[in-house]
Amino acid sequence: MSEPAASASEPTYPVVDFAPLDPRVHDDYWNVLTEVREKCPVGWSTSQWSMTESGQWIINTHRDVMAAATDWQTFSSADGVSSVQLPLDILRLIPVETDPPTHREIRKALNPFFTPYALEEKVGEINEVVAGLLEGCLAQEGPVDFVSSFTAKLPPVVFLGPGFLDSTEEQGRQLLELVDIMLTKPELTMEAAPKLLAWCGELLESRRAAGRKEDLAGVIAHMGFGEGGLHMDEKQRIETINLAVMAGMETTMGGLGATAWLLGTRPELRARLRDADERTIDRAIEEFLRFATPVSQLSRTATKDVEMGGCPIQKGDRVMLNWAAANLDPAQFPDPLTIDIDRPNVASHVAFGSGIHRCLGAHLARREIKAMVRAICALSRFEVVPDAEIKWRASMARGPVAVPVLLAR
Ligand code: HEM
Repeated sequence: MSEPAASASEPTYPVVDFAPLDPRVHDDYWNVLTEVREKCPVGWSTSQWSMTESGQWIINTHRDVMAAATDWQTFSSADGVSSVQLPLDILRLIPVETDPPTHREIRKALNPFFTPYALEEKVGEINEVVAGLLEGCLAQEGPVDFVSSFTAKLPPVVFLGPGFLDSTEEQGRQLLELVDIMLTKPELTMEAAPKLLAWCGELLESRRAAGRKEDLAGVIAHMGFGEGGLHMDEKQRIETINLAVMAGMETTMGGLGATAWLLGTRPELRARLRDADERTIDRAIEEFLRFATPVSQLSRTATKDVEMGGCPIQKGDRVMLNWAAANLDPAQFPDPLTIDIDRPNVASHVAFGSGIHRCLGAHLARREIKAMVRAICALSRFEVVPDAEIKWRASMARGPVAVPVLLAR
C-alpha cells in the first residue's frame, strides 16, 4: 500500500515505523508502546504487513481503538487481521477473518462451549491439572522453568480434554509436538502447518464417522451444511478448528506466563492475593491482562473513506489496532505502567479485543489463569530467580520464553 495522498506534501499526521514482530519492540515493550502512542495517537506506520505490502494506519489510543473495533461495517476483518498477513487462500483464520453474516452464524455455533456457565463445569478439572503440574515443578531440584514446566502445558492439556477436542493420548502427543514446533521453531513452521491442518482434518473426520456432535470438535465437524444459511467447505471447517487450537493455546500460554512473571517478581501482589476473595482475584487477572496484553495488535481493512484522529483513512487501507498501546493509555488508565488491582475501570481493557470479534475463549483463559494464581499464591515461596533476564516471544501471542523460579510448598 503506498503512502496516502497527503504525503505528496508534508503529512499532516504522525508517521512512525512500528513493526509488531520486531524483537526490539518486545525487548523494550512498555517503553516502545508508550513512545509510539505519545508520538502517534493515530497515524501512519511504514512497517510491512504482508509478504509484499508495507504501510498502514496505526491506532494507539484507547478511545479510537474501541471506536474501530466496535465498527465492523467500516473496519472489516474479512481481508485478514494478522500483523503479518498470509495469503487468505492458503489459510484463513475462522471466524476472526470473517464478517457478518458468516461470522454471526459461526459464533452462534461455538459460543455455547465458552460461556461462564459451560465453563463452570471445567473448574474442577482445571484445578486438578494445575495441582498435578505444580507437583511436577515442586519435585524438581533448583530453579524451575515455569514456562516449559507449567504455563506451556496447562492450556493444551485442558483443550485436549473432554468438551473441547477430547483427544486420545496419541492424538494429544502429535498435536503438542506440532504446536511446540509452531511456537518455538519458526524455521520449521512451513513444514509443521500442513501437518497441523491434516491433524485437524482427521479429528473432524473421526467425529463425523462416529456421529459425535456433543463436543467442540463434533460441532465444528457438522457445521456449515446449510443450517441457519451457513455454508462452509471442509477447508473452512479445518480452518475453524485450527484457529481454536492455535488461539486457545498460544495466547493463554502468554497470559499465564506473564502473570507468573508478575507474581514472581512482586511479592506484594502474592501477599495481597493469598487470602483474597473471588472478586479481588478476578480484578487482579484483568489488570495483569491489561498490563501484559498477550495479543498486542491485530488489523482491519477500511471499507470506506473515514477520518480518525485527523487521519484520512481511505477505502482499502490496512489499519492496525494496537490493543497493547490502548491498554497503556493514561487517558483511560491513569499511571498505566503501575499494576493497580483497584482500578475502578480495569474491565475496560482491550486485551480480549472488543466488538463482535471479542475473544471467544476469554472465560476459559480467565479460569485457567485464576486456578494458577490461586495455586501460586498458596505457596510459601514463588520467586523469579534474581537478575534472571526474561526474554519475550516476538509473536502475535506474546509471552515470556522462560521464567526461572524458586518455589516451595
Ligand atoms: C489470555 C488469553 C487470550 C487472549 C489475550 C486472547 C485475545 C484475543 C483477542 C484480542 C481477540 C480479538 C480478535 C479481533 O478482534 O480481531 C480474540 C479473538 C478470539 N479468540 Fe482469543 N484470546 C485468548 C484466549 C483464547 C482462548 C482460550 C480461545 C479458545 C478457543 C480463544 C479463541 C479466540 C477466537 C476463536 C477468537 C475469534 C473470535 C471472533 O472472531 O469472533 N482465545 N482473542
